[in-house]
Amino acid sequence: MKRIAVIGTGYVGLVTGTIFAHTGNRVVCCDVDARKIDQLQAGHMPIFEPGLSDIVETSVREERLSFSTDLTAAIQEADILYIAVGTPMSAKGDADMTYINRVAMTIAEAINSPKIVVIKSTVPVGTGHRVGQLIREHRAAPHEVAMVSNPEFLREGTAVKDALAMERAVIGTSSEVAYKEIASLHETLAKTIMRTSIESAEMIKYASNAFLATKISFINDIASICEATGADVSDIARGMGLDPRIGHQFLKAGVGFGGSCFPKDTKALMRIAETNGMRFPLMNAVIETNERMRRSIVDKVNNAANGLQGKTVAVFGLAFKPDTNDMRDAPALDIIPALREHGATVKAYDPIAIPEAREVLGSRASYHTSLYEAAKGADVILVLTEWKDILQADYHRLYALMNHPAVLVDGRNCLPDMAYSAGFDIRQVGRNY
Ligand code: UGA
Repeated sequence: MKRIAVIGTGYVGLVTGTIFAHTGNRVVCCDVDARKIDQLQAGHMPIFEPGLSDIVETSVREERLSFSTDLTAAIQEADILYIAVGTPMSAKGDADMTYINRVAMTIAEAINSPKIVVIKSTVPVGTGHRVGQLIREHRAAPHEVAMVSNPEFLREGTAVKDALAMERAVIGTSSEVAYKEIASLHETLAKTIMRTSIESAEMIKYASNAFLATKISFINDIASICEATGADVSDIARGMGLDPRIGHQFLKAGVGFGGSCFPKDTKALMRIAETNGMRFPLMNAVIETNERMRRSIVDKVNNAANGLQGKTVAVFGLAFKPDTNDMRDAPALDIIPALREHGATVKAYDPIAIPEAREVLGSRASYHTSLYEAAKGADVILVLTEWKDILQADYHRLYALMNHPAVLVDGRNCLPDMAYSAGFDIRQVGRNY
């Protein structure tokens, strides 16, 4: 049993802390947000993540997991400090280090024994080294501080499953003792444990996300060429993916990537290149293509509906991907305002993300928890997230509820067979249905 303090109980911190508690360690998850800590202490999850609340409940009941706003006490009682605070995008596009630096200073002030300080947050290359120096310079007592970079590869929506069966744990450190401690935390969780330098571990995270984003923008550019030439991007992706060197994953054409990671990390990687005197035109193109996909889906809706003035669009799916209520950088956030600029009224459907969407989109849409309510009286359905209930909807019934001719724009190429026989004028991405 190790004593761990997780600093920052956001998405990554909460999942990480919970999994370590689940595997038998004593974990306290801290946050400056007292409301969030109160909520967690009362047994309510601040995020929607399948399977998470059950493990939190069991670990709390068995007294391995607790929540606190008292960061100093948590630091003093733990041997391993996991930093999982946010690194939002600054105005220039780099990762904002304000929270990381603040935590480093708090660790320095509170230090009362040797500590292993692990950075879980996604941070620019060199941060682990710099934070180590900051703590050592300001520490209240000369205790040993071993720095580790242990980046996060969880996907929202499947985070618990991913965390219990990680493809790899990357542990970047120059300390033998710290490596052994952090590796043993991952022994039952990760298929492969890989040791690197701190800088390489930090870079692996950016390079992985940037590569996945590149696959998506690549297939989306191919999709545009397919539309012009009559080829079908789904067949192209399948044919390409059969080559194991390419693989099938992340080749789904559509409205592009969103969320709290890919948009931020691709820009941050560009900035890392720039601040080191290099250009990264490939990454620039990946970002541009992603932004273009959002505009082009609006054009698709507008063209299919012969103009949107006075028309009603039912937007199916608001969260950036299924099984999450996360609206951060969701395509809907650009697309809904653009539809309104074209004169459309928007009726929005999402099974769980409506409170989060309402906070950012406000009165730009009306919100519905029934697909059929949202479709009633609409001229167009626009699918932006491939939620299971959108894949399983009764498209004949939806068609009957709409104005005719009824247009169905599938921004995720995810329609079930039934949709094709329901009478819609269907438009997809990269295939001329
Ligand atoms: C991503 C990475 O997959 C994780 O490994 C990483 O840990 C995480 O970022 C992070 O940095 O914290 P996540 O943002 O949860 O995870 O979501 P993904 O499942 O990777 O999807 C990202 C976006 O790409 C979504 O908007 C999704 O709709 C889109 N996407 C994905 C496509 O448009 N096409 C695809 O083929 C796959």
